[in-house]
Amino acid sequence: MTTSQSGKGTKTVFTLNTGAKMPGIGLGTWQSKPNEVREAVKHALQTGYRHIDTALAYGNENEVGQGIKDSGVPRSEIWLTTKLDNTWHKRVQEGIDSSLKSLGTDYVDLYLMHWPSSTFDDEKRDKHEEGWDFRDTWREMQKLLDTGKVKNIGVSNFVISNLEKLLKDPSCKVVPAVNQIELHPNMPSPKTMAFCKEKGIHCTAYSCLGSTDSPLAHDKTLQKIAEAKGKSPQQVMLVWNLQRGASVIPKSVTKSRIESNFQIDGLELTSEEMQTLSSIPDRFKVCGDAWLPIKVFFNEEGDGGKTPSH
Ligand SMILES: NC(=O)c1ccc[n+]([C@@H]2O[C@H](COP(=O)([O-])OP(=O)(O)OC[C@H]3O[C@@H](n4cnc5c(N)ncnc54)[C@H](OP(=O)(O)O)[C@@H]3O)[C@@H](O)[C@H]2O)c1
Repeated sequence: MTTSQSGKGTKTVFTLNTGAKMPGIGLGTWQSKPNEVREAVKHALQTGYRHIDTALAYGNENEVGQGIKDSGVPRSEIWLTTKLDNTWHKRVQEGIDSSLKSLGTDYVDLYLMHWPSSTFDDEKRDKHEEGWDFRDTWREMQKLLDTGKVKNIGVSNFVISNLEKLLKDPSCKVVPAVNQIELHPNMPSPKTMAFCKEKGIHCTAYSCLGSTDSPLAHDKTLQKIAEAKGKSPQQVMLVWNLQRGASVIPKSVTKSRIESNFQIDGLELTSEEMQTLSSIPDRFKVCGDAWLPIKVFFNEEGDGGKTPSH
C-alpha cells in the first residue's frame, strides 16, 4: 500500500502504508525535562494537538503518560509514538512492555527502532552488539504487531543504504510505516524522502525547527519569507515540511510556543517559496552518529553528521 496526505495545516493527516491515519503535527519531547513535559503534553493536547512523540531514551515516558491523562483527551483520539532504545534491541518485547508501563497505556500507535545500532547494555553503551544488527531487531519488532501492543512499526535515522539492506533481507516481511529523520531547510534530504515515498514509507521530520539554539531562527532567506507572510520562521518551517509530505513533531515546553506552532492554518507556501527554502545552501546536522559505536550516516546527501548527540 502507498502513503497519502489529506487536509492542510493542523488538519493534515498522513495515511500510512498500513492504512492508519497519523495527524501531521505532533509535539516532540526530546530534552523536555520530567518536571516540564507533563504540563507541555497536557497543554498541547488541550490546544488541539493529537500526536505526541517520545522515546524510552528520553527518560520522560512516565510524565508524558501523566500529561496525556491530565489533558482529559481520550487515549483513543491521540496518536502516540515511542521508540526502542539501542540497548534494548535484543529485548524488544521487554522494551515495549517497559514503555507501555511508563506511559500508562496498553498500546502505542507507532513503535520505532530509534537508531540502526544495537549496543550491549547501559554499561557498555559504546560497544556494538556483534552478530546482531538492525535486521535482527526488525525481525523481532515485526512480532509485536500480533500482540496488539503496537499498531504500527517503523524506523528512525535510516539512510537509503540501510533501508535497502533492511528491505531486501528475507526476514523483512513488513515495510516500515515510518522513517523518522532529521528534516529542516538546512538538511532537506530530498533523495531519502523520494526513496521512502517510492517504497511506501512515510517520513516524519525531527528537529524540524533546527532544534535547540537553531541557526535557522536567524536565517535571512527564511526570515524574508516569514515576514512577507506575516508568520514566524518556525511556522514557515513547519508548513514547508508538511507541504513536502513530511509530518512534523516540533518540541516545546513553552506554552506560547506550543500554541504558535499550532497556528499554521491558512499559511500556504507557493512552489517558488518551497523551492527557495529547499535550496538554502547551508547544511547542518543536529543529530550525528559520533556518539554511536558504528556509523549510521554515510554522507549520502550531506548527512555525514559531526555533532555527538541524539
Ligand atoms: N528519532 C530521533 O533520533 C530524534 C532525534 C531528535 C529529535 N527527535 C524528536 O523530534 C522532536 C523535535 O526535535 P528537537 O527537539 O530536536 O527540536 P525542534 O523541535 O526542532 O526544536 C526545539 C527547540 O526549539 C524551541 N522552539 C520551539 N518552538 C519554538 C518557536 N515557535 N519559536 C522559537 N523557538 C521554538 C524549543 O524551545 P522551548 O522548548 O524552550 O520552547 C527548543 O529549544 C524531539 O523533541 C523528538 O521528539 C527524534
